[in-house]
Amino acid sequence: MISNGKSVAGIDIGSRTTKAVIWDGSAVLGKTLIPTGWSPEKSAQKAFDEVKGTTQIDLVERIVVTGYGRATASFADKAITEITAHARGVSYLLPGTRTLIDIGGQDSKAIMIDEEGLVFDFAMNDRCAAGSGKFLEFLAMTMDLPVADFAELAFASTDPVQISSICTVFAESEVLSLLAEGVRKENIANGVHRSIAQRVAQMAKSLHPQAPGAFSGGVARNRCMVRELSAVLGFEMQVPEMPEYAGALGAAIIALEGIV
Ligand SMILES: Nc1ncnc2c1ncn2[C@@H]1O[C@H](COP(=O)(O)OP(=O)(O)OP(=O)(O)O)[C@@H](O)[C@H]1O
Ligand SMILES: [Mg+2]
Repeated sequence: MISNGKSVAGIDIGSRTTKAVIWDGSAVLGKTLIPTGWSPEKSAQKAFDEVKGTTQIDLVERIVVTGYGRATASFADKAITEITAHARGVSYLLPGTRTLIDIGGQDSKAIMIDEEGLVFDFAMNDRCAAGSGKFLEFLAMTMDLPVADFAELAFASTDPVQISSICTVFAESEVLSLLAEGVRKENIANGVHRSIAQRVAQMAKSLHPQAPGAFSGGVARNRCMVRELSAVLGFEMQVPEMPEYAGALGAAIIALEGIV
């Protein structure tokens, strides 16, 4: 990609975290991640100011926003969907990706990409916490663990217990009963991860997912989720570097295309 020495920004205002990157066509010059909090517009502005402050850039030529809060960022030049943004970002980081799964704090998406890197189909679950990072956080809390420790505990198990409740609240009671029965913690934690992977795979099934696969969003940092998702889909899910920034990078790539 040609930059002509110009720098642009991509901002992904997610339901949980706001990510901003500055991009010049060949390198990410700066990146920032902050909690979105109650005002998506304020966090977008803050993330932009912060990331710009970490670089030596005087002028950011264009700003493209994405994510659930994108409509609030009036200072941006353009807004694009998360589907487009994640697909662009991941296709840059992992060229050739055909099936992309994005799991964030609040929703999950399956995105199908063709040979040219264009999105041709997608499915998403934004109705229920059960297929998202929130479900993991909630059940980690039930087991009195930070989510990263919960993921590591789960990764140590190869014998996941079946968690049948789809609803977060019922899943909590199910986990508490299993703990009371003396089932090993790591097998319960692994079962929670397996159940999310199965739900996401179910959502993706009608799209006929195929390799090569990739996994983006903050939950892609969870290596038990990567393992379980790969197992239920039947092919390996690659995780790009900085998976939580894939949407912001995709927005920045599209921002630069608008000026060069
Ligand atoms: N190291 C990690 N291990 C496990 N989970 C992680 C880790 N880092 C982030 N997460 C999880 O990632 C989620 C946030 O991801 P992300 O920033 O992609 O969400 P978002 O874009 O704000 O949400 P959405 O796309 O649903 O609107 C949280 O649920 C968080 O617990
Ligand atoms: Mg997101």
